[in-house]
Amino acid sequence: MKSYKGKTVLVTGASSGIGKAFAETLAEKGANLILVARSGDKLKEQASELEKKYSVQVGVIVSDLSEPGSAKKVFQQTQTAGLSVDVLINNAGFGKWGDFLEFDLEAYTSMLSLNINSLVELCHLYLPEMLKKKDGGIINVGSTASFVPVPYAAVYSASKAFVLYFSEALYGEYNDKGVTVMTLCPGGTESNFANVANSEIKVPKEAYESTQDVVNTALPAFLNNESYVISGFKNYMSEILPRFLPRKMVIQLVGNMWKKVTGK
Ligand SMILES: NC(=O)c1ccc[n+]([C@@H]2O[C@H](COP(=O)([O-])OP(=O)(O)OC[C@H]3O[C@@H](n4cnc5c(N)ncnc54)[C@H](OP(=O)(O)O)[C@@H]3O)[C@@H](O)[C@H]2O)c1
Repeated sequence: MKSYKGKTVLVTGASSGIGKAFAETLAEKGANLILVARSGDKLKEQASELEKKYSVQVGVIVSDLSEPGSAKKVFQQTQTAGLSVDVLINNAGFGKWGDFLEFDLEAYTSMLSLNINSLVELCHLYLPEMLKKKDGGIINVGSTASFVPVPYAAVYSASKAFVLYFSEALYGEYNDKGVTVMTLCPGGTESNFANVANSEIKVPKEAYESTQDVVNTALPAFLNNESYVISGFKNYMSEILPRFLPRKMVIQLVGNMWKKVTGK
């Protein structure tokens, strides 16, 4: 794929943060959009603003993607509307920060269902059409937590490790068939993520990237057929360094850092 102009892009988690920035930037580049999240009112307002500002077509699908069967319903709605998705951005996701036992099991099953199950399902549903066209592809949003186990965010970091490994394997399967599957790995980014993860924890925001920086890293990397991209130089180093350290030391270092962040 050479550009986003005239392509149809489905963005999950488009009502806030990184997904919202993806939507705005892609509309600016001339892409037509399908926005998915639970907050229908926010999405509808956003859609009409983007349509007016950039003269593109923007559809809205209200869906709780942690619900079993929701991915299939989203797919069916796009099929019924006669929309062919060129690029799927699996961005919706959340984490929880704290002791593993601090949160009930429902929070974790819902996280795994959203961060993993619906992501896999949407890839499975939308890939066949992309392969037929030998064009387009998928951006799956991982994290710098995809590369290291994170004590005090154990389930979240494991879910993002899944996203990276799964997406890299798909890249290996489909890259020579004209379809790119890229993992975007942001580090700390200004969004509603921290509030959802644990509103009682105040993280120092100085090191945070803007959602726009993350999207500006992701979109050209995808057109460049990258298998993964980390946004931000410091975040890139945090992926390189652990490669040279014993795993036990990495757990300790990351654990100490997160102990401080979470005040444990
Ligand atoms: N911010 C960071 O520091 C950071 C770092 C690394 C990776 N990430 C990843 O980046 C992605 C986007 O996060 P963000 O930082 O932009 O956070 P955010 O501002 O909280 O946005 C999350 C988006 O996901 C949607 N969402 C949440 N639960 C959903 C559900 N059950 N069904 C459908 N949509 C749902 C939310 O919309 P509704 O509430 O309207 O449903 C919202 O649009 C996530 O995958 C996250 O893991 C974030």
